[in-house]
Amino acid sequence: MKAIVQNEYGSPEALQLQEIDKPEVKETQIRVRVRAAALNAGDYFSVRGSPWLVRLMVGFPKPKNYILGWDVAGEVDEVGKKVNRFHPGDIVFGSCQGALAEYACAAEEQFAIKPTNLTFEQAAAVPTAALTALQGLRDAGKVQAGQRVLINGASGGVGTFAVQIAKSLGAEVTGVCSTRNVDLVRSLGADHVIDYTQEDFTQGGPRYDLILDNVGNRSFSECRRALTPRGTLLPNTGHAGMGYVLTAFARSVFVRQQSRPFVETPNTQDLLVLKDLIEAGKVTPVLDKMYRLNESPKAIAYVGEGHARGKVVVVL
Ligand SMILES: NC(=O)c1ccc[n+]([C@@H]2O[C@H](COP(=O)([O-])OP(=O)(O)OC[C@H]3O[C@@H](n4cnc5c(N)ncnc54)[C@H](OP(=O)(O)O)[C@@H]3O)[C@@H](O)[C@H]2O)c1
Repeated sequence: MKAIVQNEYGSPEALQLQEIDKPEVKETQIRVRVRAAALNAGDYFSVRGSPWLVRLMVGFPKPKNYILGWDVAGEVDEVGKKVNRFHPGDIVFGSCQGALAEYACAAEEQFAIKPTNLTFEQAAAVPTAALTALQGLRDAGKVQAGQRVLINGASGGVGTFAVQIAKSLGAEVTGVCSTRNVDLVRSLGADHVIDYTQEDFTQGGPRYDLILDNVGNRSFSECRRALTPRGTLLPNTGHAGMGYVLTAFARSVFVRQQSRPFVETPNTQDLLVLKDLIEAGKVTPVLDKMYRLNESPKAIAYVGEGHARGKVVVVL
């Protein structure tokens, strides 16, 4: 099968399209014939080898035949002996390390049946970004109906889902984005949109019960000015590095406002929550550019620029 293989850290240009063996399915895994794979900021971090923590997963001191990609939609091709939820031929979406390949394997708990109203490209866009938004807002942020929620980076992969999910939780939502994305963020249901080229949300405007920060360009101290006295910041950014997240967390120990880092965990139950929201028309993936498998280096470089409008998808 064809796959995008990484053998060094640095630039996406060093990635190679190679012919390799199909992965063997383990007892608790399913193997998926990949129809579409979506990219995340994490794929760019894997290629760069920074933040350093990614090297623990990708390979130390350098990667060895690491297959990139994490989000897929496709058709189940084979199931392990202990798999009981899926059968060959099922159409699924989920999280699957090694997604930039014709076939990929992962534990059955990382998949669900694809929402009926989405294409493969749209379904592949969902897992990591939408689970991050859902678990951040619902679990870490404990959003309640009527609360004021601000999404910084509202036009990106996580942000476009976060605006829609926060609305579905009953929040009054403010999205922060650049001028070209104001209409997009409003069309996703945001009650208010702040154009960051014109206005700084930390400078004396309204106060928010929760800020989901997908950008990391504001310190916890600055965000505190835009939080209610018991408000919470969710620092959700690999771009700003672990130092940013840990500093915000340490500072929040001494004040009533909280900084609560969280890590997205793929699981079937939450994919089914998203499937319900999608089939009910409350959440729709926003797709930016599409690429072919051999164009993956270009796609990852684009994601690395940090200005995607929704999700970037590789179509097989
Ligand atoms: N906690 C977890 O487990 C977890 C899981 C997945 C991802 N993440 C993190 O989530 C973060 C966001 O990921 P993503 O996929 O949404 O990234 P993305 O798709 O690259 O989106 C970034 C967005 O940020 C906007 N932006 C850039 N500068 C901005 C500014 N100064 N103010 C407001 N918006 C700005 C960009 O819009 P413009 O073009 O308009 O500037 C772009 O739409 C990443 O850092 C990633 O590490 C965390």
